[in-house]
Amino acid sequence: MRKPIVAGNWKMNGTQESIVPLLDRVIAGVDTSVNAQVIVCSPYIYIPLIAGKIADTAVEFGSQNISEFESGAYTGEISAQMLKDFDCEYVIIGHSERRHVFGETDQNIADKYKKAQEHGIIPILCVGELLEEREADKTAEVVIRQIDAILSTSGVESLQNAIIAYEPVWAIGTGKTATPEQAEEVHKLIRETIAKQNGTIASSLRILYGGSVKPSNAAELFAMEDIDGGLIGGASLESEDFLAICKATN
Ligand code: PGA
Repeated sequence: MRKPIVAGNWKMNGTQESIVPLLDRVIAGVDTSVNAQVIVCSPYIYIPLIAGKIADTAVEFGSQNISEFESGAYTGEISAQMLKDFDCEYVIIGHSERRHVFGETDQNIADKYKKAQEHGIIPILCVGELLEEREADKTAEVVIRQIDAILSTSGVESLQNAIIAYEPVWAIGTGKTATPEQAEEVHKLIRETIAKQNGTIASSLRILYGGSVKPSNAAELFAMEDIDGGLIGGASLESEDFLAICKATN
């Protein structure tokens, strides 16, 4: 049995004024009625605040990015060591906004993934195709290429300590969700691709779906065989919606 995960990606939203009550409501709402593992991924600058509030609660936290470098002259970057300094356990790596707005390549992403794991931080690796790639029937090719970059840099065993999120880029922040069948097709492909190298790791790997998940569509997505929860953007900024999505894994 794979324990479902619901991870919130707050992106570059909020200030202390909105984030503190949001976090308080999430912490209060994640009680025994929630079966999923719940993670919130905040902007770097709020990590110390979150680390303090979240200690000894059922909610976990992660970062939205990490440097691929160890330390040194990399102005503006945040290292794995710094994240670990605040007990950060997870990091989103390869989000489509990092790939497509900030130009991160498959290799940058593979290097970040490796660096996170070297410091005991669990990567939440995002993969997914652009609309034009889906329309050109290239979804499988793109997703496999993105996963292969990780496999060739860190090996299949690294997936024992990682989470994958399939996020079709055309569904992120657009209100357009993949149908449960469309999502399941890609999740199954990801699991089968990994199973070719290691069946045990493939069957225990949590693969989340992301892209306009809402309380109204979460349960049908999470009911699919290879969908083990969600990576939630917009709806993670509203505690009621986020908690309803957490409960939809039950
Ligand atoms: P969305 O974002 O839920 O707002 O579509 C998902 C994500 O970017 O992880």
